[in-house]
Amino acid sequence: MIYQVVLVSVGLVAQASAACSRAVLQDAVVAYIQAQAAGNPSLLPQAKNVSYAENDVSTDITKGVLSQAITIDFNRSIFDTTECSTFTEISAATNKHPYVIETRMTLSGASVTSIQSVVADSGDWAFNAAGQLSWAKKEKWDPIPEGKRDSRAVIKAAGDAYLDSWADGKVKVPYGTPCARLEGGSYTGDKNASANTCHMPEFPKPFPGVANRRYVIDEEMGGLGIFNDFPFIDKTRPNGTPSTNLLKVEGGQIRFIHETTVCATRNCGR
Ligand SMILES: *[C@@H]1O[C@H](CO)[C@@H](O)[C@H](O)[C@H]1NC(C)=O
Ligand SMILES: *[C@@H]1O[C@H](CO)[C@@H](O)[C@H](O)[C@H]1NC(C)=O
Ligand SMILES: *[C@@H]1O[C@H](CO)[C@@H](O)[C@H](O)[C@H]1NC(C)=O
Repeated sequence: MIYQVVLVSVGLVAQASAACSRAVLQDAVVAYIQAQAAGNPSLLPQAKNVSYAENDVSTDITKGVLSQAITIDFNRSIFDTTECSTFTEISAATNKHPYVIETRMTLSGASVTSIQSVVADSGDWAFNAAGQLSWAKKEKWDPIPEGKRDSRAVIKAAGDAYLDSWADGKVKVPYGTPCARLEGGSYTGDKNASANTCHMPEFPKPFPGVANRRYVIDEEMGGLGIFNDFPFIDKTRPNGTPSTNLLKVEGGQIRFIHETTVCATRNCGR
C-alpha cells in the first residue's frame, strides 16, 4: 500500500517537472507555428479556458490573426522552464499581408492557458517586414555553453536596465560590444557590426516609465522576452502602446535587441 502511494507520488512529481521541460514548451511552439501557418488554432493544445489577446485586446481566437493562414519565412523562440512560458517571433515578410508577430504563451501541463500576441504590420513603428526578416535571419542566436550561462536574475536585470534607461539616462545598461538593435525593420548594426550601436538616450519628459512588463526568461539561450506598454512613442497613447523587446544576453551583456511596437496612428504619428 505504502509502496503504491510512493509510486503514485513519484509519478506526479515526474509529471509536474516534465510539464515545464524544454521539450514540452518546444512542442507547444511547434504546434503554434503549425496552427499559424494553417490558420487553424485547433492545432494548438489548449486549456478549456485559454485566453487570447492581440495588442492587449482580448480577442476571439477564431477571429484573430491565428485564424489566418500565414506564410512564415522565419521564426525564433525562447523557452522559460521556470515559469512555463514561451516567446516566439514570427517573420512573415512574403505573406500577402506582411506581418511580424511576437507571441507569449503560458502553459499548464502540456496545455496552453494564455496566448498574447503583438501583431505588427504596415504603419506600425519602423515596420518593414523584409528588413526585419533579413536581419533576424543573419543573427546568430546559439545556445550559451553550460557553465557560461547567466542566472535568470542577471538576464532579467539587463533587460530591465535597458527599459529603465529610457526614463532615466543615468541607469547603467550592460550593453555588450558588439550590440545591435532591430527596431521594426531598421537595424543599428548595419554600418559597424563590431560596435555597440544599441545605446538608447533618455526620452523627453514626461515619460512615465515602461509598465506592464511580462517576462519570458531562457537561461540556455540567454534569451529575454518582455511584453510591455511603451509610453511616449505613440502620440495618441501617451501612457503606452503594445510593444515587445526580445533580447539576447551573453555574459551579462546585451548582444541583440528586437523591438516590435504597434502604433494606433501611422508610424505612431511621427
Ligand atoms: C483556467 O483554469 C485553470 C484550472 O482550472 C485555472 O488554474 C486558471 O486560473 C484558469 N485561467 C483563467 C485565465 O481563467
Ligand atoms: C520555425 O523554426 C524552426 C526552428 O528554427 C524551424 O525548424 C522551422 O522550420 C520553422 N518553421 C517555419 C514554418 O518556418
Ligand atoms: C567598429 O567598432 C569597433 C568597436 O567599437 C571599433 O574598434 C572600430 O574602429 C569600428 N570600425 C569602424 C570602421 O568604425
